Amino acid sequence: MSQKILIILFIFLHCQVILASDPDPVQDFCIAHEAESGLNLQCKNSSLATVEDFVFSGVKSPGKFSETGLSATSVNSKIFPGLNTLGMSFVRADLEPGGINPPHFHPRATEIVFVLEGKVYSGFVDTQNRVFSRVIEKGEVMVFPRGLLHFQMNVGYERATILGSFDSQNPGLQRIANAVFGSGIEEGLLEKAFGLSPKELAKLRRKFASEHKE
Ligand SMILES: *[C@@H]1O[C@H](CO)[C@@H](O)[C@H](O)[C@H]1NC(C)=O
Repeated sequence: MSQKILIILFIFLHCQVILASDPDPVQDFCIAHEAESGLNLQCKNSSLATVEDFVFSGVKSPGKFSETGLSATSVNSKIFPGLNTLGMSFVRADLEPGGINPPHFHPRATEIVFVLEGKVYSGFVDTQNRVFSRVIEKGEVMVFPRGLLHFQMNVGYERATILGSFDSQNPGLQRIANAVFGSGIEEGLLEKAFGLSPKELAKLRRKFASEHKE
């Protein structure tokens, strides 16, 4: 291959890498006016910015625990407008002993998690259905590649605390069971797809009926 072709190929691959992340900011910061959609919205007048725009205090302690023993507070640009245009976000997750973070994925971000306290069975599944999982302990980090299914379970005797960060201001969250059974997909299709009787499907639908979110 000639050098020119190699250079063009390099530029092409490099551009793809750039396009795979949130857009680059074009100013120091852009505190979102209205944070609801999590998108790049109009910036608040930067002369009016204060340090409070860059501090979020809602992760000092765990939030409400779900029935699976999980409390997760996503610190994305929707609840922390100072993150707008900065291409990253954060999560604090706490798990009761035996608690689980059910299989889910983030369509727009890779996630790296750090175990602050506890022992957590953690893993992800690639598109060939290989599972990469093990127990990670206090002080260890694990990465969940963008868009891949992942999960966690507290296998210790104490509450576990996990901190995570994402390379998107708005990673999105799709929980597999809720997306499949809680979204209103036609019963006939789900019965065939998963080999379920109407009774079994009804049970799963009740369990995973979810409010619309993110
Ligand atoms: C931003 O706020 C400053 C200070 O209140 C004001 O002087 C300026 O006109 C505002 N800029 C815009 C674009 O509204």
